[in-house]
Amino acid sequence: MQEFFEYNLGARVLYQAGLSGDLAQVIEEMGARPFIITDKGVMAAGLLAPVLAGLTTPPVGIYDDIPPNSSVKVVMEAAQAAREVGADMLIALGGGSPIDTAKGVRIVLTNGGHLLDYQGYNVIADRLMPMIAVPTTAGTGSEVTPFAVIRDEEQDLKLAFTSRFLVPDVAVLDPELTRSLPPRLSAATGMDALSHAIETFVSTENNPFSDSMALFAIDMIASHMRDSVHNGADIDARGQMLIASCMAGIACANSYFGVIHALSHAVGGLYAVHHGTLNSIFLPHGMRYNSAIVPDRYVRIARAMGVNAGGRSDEEVIADGVAAVATLAADCGLPTRLRDVDVPEDVLPQLASIALVDGAIFHNPRVAEEGELLELLRAAW
Ligand SMILES: [Fe+2]
Repeated sequence: MQEFFEYNLGARVLYQAGLSGDLAQVIEEMGARPFIITDKGVMAAGLLAPVLAGLTTPPVGIYDDIPPNSSVKVVMEAAQAAREVGADMLIALGGGSPIDTAKGVRIVLTNGGHLLDYQGYNVIADRLMPMIAVPTTAGTGSEVTPFAVIRDEEQDLKLAFTSRFLVPDVAVLDPELTRSLPPRLSAATGMDALSHAIETFVSTENNPFSDSMALFAIDMIASHMRDSVHNGADIDARGQMLIASCMAGIACANSYFGVIHALSHAVGGLYAVHHGTLNSIFLPHGMRYNSAIVPDRYVRIARAMGVNAGGRSDEEVIADGVAAVATLAADCGLPTRLRDVDVPEDVLPQLASIALVDGAIFHNPRVAEEGELLELLRAAW
């Protein structure tokens, strides 16, 4: 544990099945001219209609032209659209991309100028325009995190924005919104949430506050992910996954990520493979690699995954914990190797050098060398 740590309890979190259709009062407390940011997948799934039906006054505008990986250009266009109609608050409805776009829009609308002026760590110094985040996947945790990841198409780079002022004011967790999420996406986003919980629990920035959120999230995901993937209409399982994803988000918002996200970011920057799927592929390898440094932490992770630790050596318990994570991913139908998602073998050295300088790796408990990252990539291939 760190001698000093800061723990921010940012968003007001509201949970109820069907709550996204009853947001009028929450919105009225925050602004009079709400602007909705969503994407075409959410529209096609019919998730916006119940939100609109529950409002007493219609939104001043809706922006839905958001790709799976949002970009600086999209943020600037959405901000312009919101500015033209005099928006005074934002509602983000969707997965990580619409929510991160809305975070970018609130930066530009509050402070003026260009989004690129605010890139980096703690550049934003004051409160931003009010924002409600309504996730439609159980994975990113973006509804409660101080991060936004937005692609700069001109430099072909993913830019990170980090500030405690980016945390949305309200997170609305409504499992009815994840009911129609297809099994593959439910599995990939669930494994993203699991990777947040596991990486943050072993991070160099861990502290008892994030530990409690992370461990309980691991337990909830191990207990409910299979049901949420194989029986999407199981609202209890969907709700447990949504809460676990949010808790893992709160944990990593304060204690960050590690080698699994660093490798994932490297691959995701070059190939269009879902972030959660990549984390799922790297999880067992990253866990084995880090467990040499913080074995006690991996024993606790294994127990949270449901492994019986009684009377057995730490090595056995840790190995079973890693196997439990790999089995969960396989049971949920996810690919287990990089070759299965069309990553060519000859690019692995390039991926190792990209991962070596990814921001996520600086909080990994084991200081990784490029050769070790290459070994992990080869093992995952
Ligand atoms: Fe992630």
